[in-house]
Amino acid sequence: MDAFLGRTQFEAAAEVVRRRIRYAPDIGLILGSGLGPLADAVEDADCIPYADIPHWPIPTVTGHSGQLIAGRLEGRPVLVMQGRAHYYEGYPMDQVTLPVRVMQLLGVRILIVTNAAGGINPAFRPGDLMLIIDHIGLIGMTGLNPLRGPNDDSLGPRFPDMSQAYDPALRALAGQVASELGISLQRGVYICLSGPSFETPADVRFLRTIGADAVGMSTVPEVIVARHGGLRVLGISGISNVLQLGLADQPTTHDEVLAAGQIIVPRLIALLRGILRALPPGSKQ
Ligand code: HPA
Repeated sequence: MDAFLGRTQFEAAAEVVRRRIRYAPDIGLILGSGLGPLADAVEDADCIPYADIPHWPIPTVTGHSGQLIAGRLEGRPVLVMQGRAHYYEGYPMDQVTLPVRVMQLLGVRILIVTNAAGGINPAFRPGDLMLIIDHIGLIGMTGLNPLRGPNDDSLGPRFPDMSQAYDPALRALAGQVASELGISLQRGVYICLSGPSFETPADVRFLRTIGADAVGMSTVPEVIVARHGGLRVLGISGISNVLQLGLADQPTTHDEVLAAGQIIVPRLIALLRGILRALPPGSKQ
């Protein structure tokens, strides 16, 4: 059997983080491509370069700086990942998702996960925000599930439920906050492919046929592990480019994804701040 990271490695990483932060975080935040500037909003920040944390996967692509930031956002103790590593960079799934295990061991109860995604739904425009209502774990279905390997019952069940992967109460709260702030929010299904190549026009037709509204290369593995560990999840995609059928023969570039991040960040910060303000203390909601 393959060797997998387990509680020993997760604890070792969590211990290094625990020693370097002043607040016990109850909310974890993962920032996607081009969304790193969000971390500048964290107050009282303790920053830990990923390279200082054992087993932590270090991002290799531009647009993903690699540090963990612990501090306060709207008075709430948060742990923010400024940049994430992806499967396509060469890390195995258990390592890609190790940061979520560290959050679990540090007592994080809510994971807010963000990403940059390509819009498949024809109603979507670059710069839109999409509340993730569900996902299609295509790469998991074909064998790349992050829970593959021995199950540690002390971390979660062998066969975790995914019927409500994206917490209904948190989704409702995000919707309410967005409308109060006048921020328009699309809703849709996110699909994760392994990447790093972008989609062909035939890929896009396939993804649309199977019910995806937005496509990216992250998030789903982290969400599966978070749900396995009992964390509640809120997911928001920033639509960086669109892959609509008639336009699918237009090229997609990483620079385009990063540039859209700059447009998305101010609205995403406002929305996340509003959500944190609206969450009752203790994060149980
Ligand atoms: N495809 C896949 N991943 C992405 C895209 C895309 O068009 N845009 C941002 N991440």
